[in-house]
Amino acid sequence: AAAASGIVKPLPPELFIPQGTNAEMRWEAMRGQGYLTPVDRFFVRNHVSTPLIDAGTWRLKLWGTGLHGSPTEDRPVEFSYEDLLGLRAETLTASVECTGNGRSFFTSQQGQTVSGTAWKLGAVGVARWRGVRLSTVLERAGLTRKAVDILPRGLDPDYVDKGENLGRVRRPLPVAKALKDVLLAYEMNGRPLPPDHGAPVRLVVPSWVGIASVKWVGDIQVADEPLFSPWNTRYYRLFGPGYPPEGSAPLTRMNVKSAFELPWDGTLPAGRHVLHGRSWSGNGRVRHTDISVDGGRTWHRARPRDLHAPARGWTRWEYPWRPGGTGRHELLARATDETGATQPATWPENTLGYLFGAVVRHPITIA
Ligand code: MTE
Repeated sequence: AAAASGIVKPLPPELFIPQGTNAEMRWEAMRGQGYLTPVDRFFVRNHVSTPLIDAGTWRLKLWGTGLHGSPTEDRPVEFSYEDLLGLRAETLTASVECTGNGRSFFTSQQGQTVSGTAWKLGAVGVARWRGVRLSTVLERAGLTRKAVDILPRGLDPDYVDKGENLGRVRRPLPVAKALKDVLLAYEMNGRPLPPDHGAPVRLVVPSWVGIASVKWVGDIQVADEPLFSPWNTRYYRLFGPGYPPEGSAPLTRMNVKSAFELPWDGTLPAGRHVLHGRSWSGNGRVRHTDISVDGGRTWHRARPRDLHAPARGWTRWEYPWRPGGTGRHELLARATDETGATQPATWPENTLGYLFGAVVRHPITIA
């Protein structure tokens, strides 16, 4: 695997906000788009850089005590790209969202200091993934009933955090989730998976924190005991006031959020507008979204545009607005999902800034 530096796809400034080796989608780039996030504007979250991997020589290697005969790492069960193409294919419309999506609002709305990439709301996208169910591959590899956890690992370079080499990106996943609805994806929106999004094959773990969807997957350890890596011990737990020193349990589902398809702190002409946006939740479908154009005093229901949205995707909505006057305004969107979970005015702090779930106050100037 040759490592390119950073990101491979072109990042036109009108579509992306650069965030180190990551790229955040600008929400105005979704305006006028269809249901799915086009690949050219899908956010990229890279711990290191995008490797360029030849699908012809790529192998998925499975090993560990959770497989019959306990194959070892140096004598694993192998699948080639061709092998995967020969297995029954499935499609899945699902979001991938960074656990830290919305992190910057801990600071800008709540005055809290948190570490990590200062995303606004653009670290999320919805694509139509195609590939093979992970359960199919695990069963063919000889999954036993004693298997507890799997540990998929990426082929991107080692991740070094403040001088400490933590090895390749890898995050344990319970076998129960792996067998439920996880895809080994080789296509994104009808085309082969592009390098930045995990070519030739990535995991798509619907509804869960983005880190679970390991890109450039090269091997999967399957174990009859719980597995650990820094990505479920040191990161992707809640730390800080009110949490034990080892943090919360490892994070699983994403929470409910909403975004306007508008430039952040942009300018709109006076007159009538139809505001567009999207809401999504790791708990399932969004039931409704309410809008406030007066700073949160009054709320009105947005008109949903997807009455039968895919359960793991998002719901588009629109709301007519005639601003009362020129100057600065704040637009608020608050979604409620099918479990009744909604977006409160503030969100409890955690030092790594994960899962910001409060209503975001979107600034807009009417000129
Ligand atoms: N997989 C590997 N191998 N390396 C990574 O850096 N980043 C994870 C996940 N899978 C990552 C990875 C994180 S934190 C997220 S949010 C998603 O990939 C982002 O997927 P995307 O870049 O296709 O949007």
